[in-house]
Amino acid sequence: ARITLRQLLDDAAEHGYGVPAFNINNMEQLLAIMAAAGAVDAPVIVQASRGARSYAGDTMLARMVDAAEAMYPAIPICLHQDHGNDETTCFSAIQMGFTSVMMDGSLEADAKTPASYAYNVAVTERVTTLAHKVGVSVEGELGVLGSLETGKGEAEDGHGTDQTLSHDQLLTDPEQAVAFVAATGVDALAIAMGTSHGAYKFSRKPDGEILAMHVVKAIHEKMPGLHLVMHGSSSVPEELQERFNRYGGAMPTTFGVPIEEIQRGIRYGVRKINIDTDCRLAMAAEMRRVATENPAEFDPRKFLKPAMDALVGLCRDRFEAFGAAGNA
Ligand code: G3H
Ligand code: 13P
Ligand code: NA
Ligand code: ZN
Repeated sequence: ARITLRQLLDDAAEHGYGVPAFNINNMEQLLAIMAAAGAVDAPVIVQASRGARSYAGDTMLARMVDAAEAMYPAIPICLHQDHGNDETTCFSAIQMGFTSVMMDGSLEADAKTPASYAYNVAVTERVTTLAHKVGVSVEGELGVLGSLETGKGEAEDGHGTDQTLSHDQLLTDPEQAVAFVAATGVDALAIAMGTSHGAYKFSRKPDGEILAMHVVKAIHEKMPGLHLVMHGSSSVPEELQERFNRYGGAMPTTFGVPIEEIQRGIRYGVRKINIDTDCRLAMAAEMRRVATENPAEFDPRKFLKPAMDALVGLCRDRFEAFGAAGNA
């Protein structure tokens, strides 16, 4: 059954769990996420970026999710627009049957420059007013994702800006968060605490200097009822890096967000945890393995089936680690 983000996260808050939000672009990713959710009885958030919508096409994406719903009638599914950059993107997602949209007003609509607070409030409030009229949820974002190690801020979807930002911009201000939520009426708030998109988040296992979980705690203390969202929350496990590299991959050693930090976040009100990179890496490592072990292979299914199986395993692990398993 289709469910809004608000309905889903209210249940997560009531029962103290977090829900991984996995990005989808194709059938294989969606089938794997659903198989994992079905196996552990977890609710699903699948999210499509603007890039996903142009890759698969809106009609294909929407109908795939209809099919997933028909295949798994007992699993609640939220279809969410990831990083909507303007009202047009959010409104067209709503027309396509998305039950939740992210209006990411932390950057200007061109997604290259950090936005003013006034712009962010105004655009997010307009989207929320329309979305709520038609029963759709809204995630806003306050603060710009980026590395506290390098000061490099991010453009929307991680497709980088080279701007160097101050810690003021890279960490959400708790006081401002209270004002933002009151002014916009968002159902969930993405906050900046040192994570960034993609594989290269940290040059070492993160501590409180570079992954500011105290900011999450401070915001939660001010607004205990607010659903928080962590972007850039792939863990980039060492085993996956090794597997990818064993079969000819070239990924320099890197560190993601440790699962135990996400679990700490869940205790501080984090209810939606965005994961794309880990899913990509799990699938890509298996496709590399097949290509390496069997260079004569050319049936795409022989690459994609092991890739799907690896993704099922990864999604199950996250559903279990975040406490979503058993809560469908
Ligand atoms: O926010 C970033 C997600 O990983 C989506 O990435 O824009 O390449 O689809 P994408
Ligand atoms: P990762 O790149 O860490 O998987 O983050 C994904 C994300 O935040 C999508 O919005
Ligand atoms: Na999102
Ligand atoms: Zn994100």
